[in-house]
Amino acid sequence: MSDQKSVPTLPEPIKNLEIKYTKIFINNEWHNSSSGKKFPVLNPATEEKICDIEEGDKEDVDKAVKAARAAFQLGSPWRRLDASKRGALLNKLADLIERDRLILSTMESINGGKPFAAAYFSDLDGAVKSLRYCAGWADKNQGRTIPMDGDFFTFTRHEPVGVCGQIIPWNFPLVMMAWKIAPALACGNTIIVKPSEQTPLTALHIGALVKEAGIPPGVVNIVPGYGSTAGAAISHHMDIDKVAFTGSTEVGKLIKEAAGKSNLKRVTLELGGKSPIIVLADADLDQALEFTHNGLFYHQGQCCIAGSRLFVEESIYDEFVRRSVEKAKKRVLGNPLTAGICQGPQIDKKQFEKILMLIESGKKEGAKLECGGARWGNKGYFIQPTVFSNVTDEMRIAKEEIFGPVQQILKFKTIDEVIKRANNTTYGLAAGIFTKDLDKALTFTTALQAGTVWVNCYGSLSSQCPFGGFKMSGNGREMGEYGLHEYTEVKAVVIKISQKNS
Ligand code: NAI
Ligand code: MG
Repeated sequence: MSDQKSVPTLPEPIKNLEIKYTKIFINNEWHNSSSGKKFPVLNPATEEKICDIEEGDKEDVDKAVKAARAAFQLGSPWRRLDASKRGALLNKLADLIERDRLILSTMESINGGKPFAAAYFSDLDGAVKSLRYCAGWADKNQGRTIPMDGDFFTFTRHEPVGVCGQIIPWNFPLVMMAWKIAPALACGNTIIVKPSEQTPLTALHIGALVKEAGIPPGVVNIVPGYGSTAGAAISHHMDIDKVAFTGSTEVGKLIKEAAGKSNLKRVTLELGGKSPIIVLADADLDQALEFTHNGLFYHQGQCCIAGSRLFVEESIYDEFVRRSVEKAKKRVLGNPLTAGICQGPQIDKKQFEKILMLIESGKKEGAKLECGGARWGNKGYFIQPTVFSNVTDEMRIAKEEIFGPVQQILKFKTIDEVIKRANNTTYGLAAGIFTKDLDKALTFTTALQAGTVWVNCYGSLSSQCPFGGFKMSGNGREMGEYGLHEYTEVKAVVIKISQKNS
């Protein structure tokens, strides 16, 4: 029937994908690194090298900042462009990403260990929708007129902040890049993107598309390199006006410190979490099981919002644990390019070892290992889906971000108790609550200290909805209208006039 939605089909990933872009992207041109150094990029499923990438460092960041600064000068093509045309350029970039969906999702899969279907549908959709959402805002970021006391005419301009450094993590390379470049460009900023050293491939491909879309030279610059060199050069730079970062809380602190020590650049941070999900006995258990399972195991647990403290009410605890374990055991692991796989490898050896170490700590501290707990296979950084029950609040696995396929299930008796325990963390990124009781649900939505509270769902994100953390999970918000404010300086213009009238 014509009004039926067609179900999108998944094509085959590209075999022997050619990696075309391996250099530093400045002024819409490709450059070798100033130092002459390169770094290897690996496939975490096979531990084999995909290619070498030019390694950007301080000197390369300086070049990129000069280009971005020149592109931001008054009178430059970018500053003179109609806001609606900035929107059109973002839409053009989204069109090109859609055209190259198969290339980009194959790349994201081999470089990031993402199951191909997730990369093809979820990551690519997320990136395209973020660009289109912000494209629509480009000519709607309006100032106000203000009824100020006295004989004045006062208005505000929403100006771009300036040159923005954007430091991207490896877990959602394309989506996180889109979340950063889309609002920055919609608001008229110029940018230097530093992709993660683990996953720079899709970012560099986007560089080629930026040029093809017709975005003027110097507006988007991409400097691949390591965090302690290229990343630190961005956060310490005296001529960068803002840094946006997604990654560990540890590095988030370094970035704020660097901003304080240099030019007090604006800083927005999206950091770690230890997000609680609370399941009350009256919840729809099938629904709760589905969301709590995916809320932890999605992308091998490598999500900032991973619901890694699952609090289940005492009367349903044993059944919930049993059914969670059943689900975890059904996960199919393997090379992410293979059809039907739902779990790929962890991103690298360091993360892999950290996760195994935290699993050991859980065993030692007395949690009950219900399933998993070890490496899967003998090649690639795969970890068996792992579930711990009888977890208590002071255990490391209940306190530290694991960033792996390891689920912690805790037991609670009363609502007051679980609210206190859920909030007893330095983090505040997200929280979930499952109940059919509206009054209880609303009690939780007010009491939980988190940037997002999901009720009877978990992990539902969208470009229209602001995202970010309370407490040590970060500063500022990304996406939604709130996200645009982070890329805007408000200028108040106060004009003396002879006589004001109401
Ligand atoms: P990381 O925070 O070191 O890396 C994220 C980004 O920051 C990368 O682009 C990296 O090059 C850059 N970076 C690293 N050191 C820097 C510095 N001194 N100055 C400026 N930029 C720097 O994260 P890592 O080491 O890969 O993972 C450690 C833990 O962080 C994970 O186990 C996980 O708990 C958390 N994490 C959280 C993410 C999130 O989505 N919030 C994403 C990635 C990691
Ligand atoms: Mg690190």
